Amino acid sequence: MTNTFPKHFLWGASISAHQTEGAYQSDGKGLSVQDTRQRDNHDITDFTVAVDHYHHYKEDIRLLAEMGIKVFRFSIAWTRIFPNGRGEINQKGLQHYNDVIDELLKYGIQPYITLNHFDLPQALEDEGGWSARTTVEAFKHYAETVFEAYGDRAKHWLTINEPNIMLLVDKKILGKEIPLQEKYQQFHHLMIAEKYAFKRCHELIEGGKIGPVPNISLVYPATSKPLDNQAALYFNSIRNWAYLDFSCFGRYNTVFKDYLNRNNVTITIAPEDKELMENHFPDFVAMNFYTTVTVEKPTKKDGMANGISDQQSEDIMEWGFYKGFTNPYLKKNEFNWTIDPDGLKTTLQTLYDRYHLPIIITENGLGAKDELTADGKIHDTYRINYLKQHIDQCLQAIEAGVDLIGYSPWSAIDLVSVHEGISKRYGFIYVDRTEQDEKDLARYRKDSFYWYQELIKTNQLPS
Ligand code: BG6
Repeated sequence: MTNTFPKHFLWGASISAHQTEGAYQSDGKGLSVQDTRQRDNHDITDFTVAVDHYHHYKEDIRLLAEMGIKVFRFSIAWTRIFPNGRGEINQKGLQHYNDVIDELLKYGIQPYITLNHFDLPQALEDEGGWSARTTVEAFKHYAETVFEAYGDRAKHWLTINEPNIMLLVDKKILGKEIPLQEKYQQFHHLMIAEKYAFKRCHELIEGGKIGPVPNISLVYPATSKPLDNQAALYFNSIRNWAYLDFSCFGRYNTVFKDYLNRNNVTITIAPEDKELMENHFPDFVAMNFYTTVTVEKPTKKDGMANGISDQQSEDIMEWGFYKGFTNPYLKKNEFNWTIDPDGLKTTLQTLYDRYHLPIIITENGLGAKDELTADGKIHDTYRINYLKQHIDQCLQAIEAGVDLIGYSPWSAIDLVSVHEGISKRYGFIYVDRTEQDEKDLARYRKDSFYWYQELIKTNQLPS
């Protein structure tokens, strides 16, 4: 067993626009659903300033170059390009990402750009959001605009971040619950929008490559009871394969169709969709992974309401299909997310066997409460341990034949967590601010920064 990665392995680091940029109304930017979303907890910061990456991007990229990354995964804020989702282009917004891309290329870092990461323009949301077919048209035009503007230099693209988690955990991510019928019409529109992105990327960008970016985690049955296994089959399909089967095979899978039928969900499919579904495919799969999930078959209605409140814990249930179960073999982090490095290898093997496409991991990491010491250090040994265990499983997956081409963890710099504000940090670079006090937003290298730098330099996991 070697501890060396393939020569051209793509070491990276990832962020999203709304969780880092701030400047939420600067230079003509419009509001997105993340700027307006209702929050349960008002003690945590919103995204108005975040870590002000919009103004610090040069400093941040310089630090990332020092760390040695080959790939930077970031997203474009649609509302910087089209403040109202469509209409006239905002030139300052367009220029901003031109500058970001040029800055990355200056250091030899390849951009991997997510078209949309949870931040749909509010103006489109007001017209029905992803429930309205017109949003698909607006997305197509937005994607064409950025492909044309940046495609001469940016060759790698990701479509829509985690549509599976966005729909399953709608309340937490979007601030509102979407009824089931509407949710799965949105599924269809999101997936058709993605198909347009595959098609237009290939048509407009010479040498352009594009992939979907779902959150994929294997679902385990709680016991060897046949019905628990059936619950895992359904949840694997609803959570994982429904999305990738659409992207990679161009079809609704049968387990998912049965789930929709049993819930009386009917999807409206437009005449042009069949051609799109069956003829336009990704070049690779980008996958986000934090943990696995364990479920049992719900046997009695025990007072728990149908629904999913946290994708990374056992707080999930759909009567008749599956119910979350605490896996007794796995530890949890301080935010109650289970940790399962072995599950990463199994997830990678299962995914690769199903689709036979190259895979890049575009999120994986540990959210934790870091402490800045008086001498400007952050001793995040816990994060190093988490990354080490998961990277080791990546190596094992490669040895087992998986075409894993890169690993781009979450996150490059500290950012505002979707659910827990800035107190839950993921970055290699610490940003000095608290929930209520923006302080000076100074950047500090964490211990994990130096650890990752060494790993990239040697292309080896330290033994
Ligand atoms: C992923 C999202 O689902 O999980 C990220 O793509 C998010 O945007 C990450 O930050 C971690 O979740 P959280 O809730 O800790 O921010």
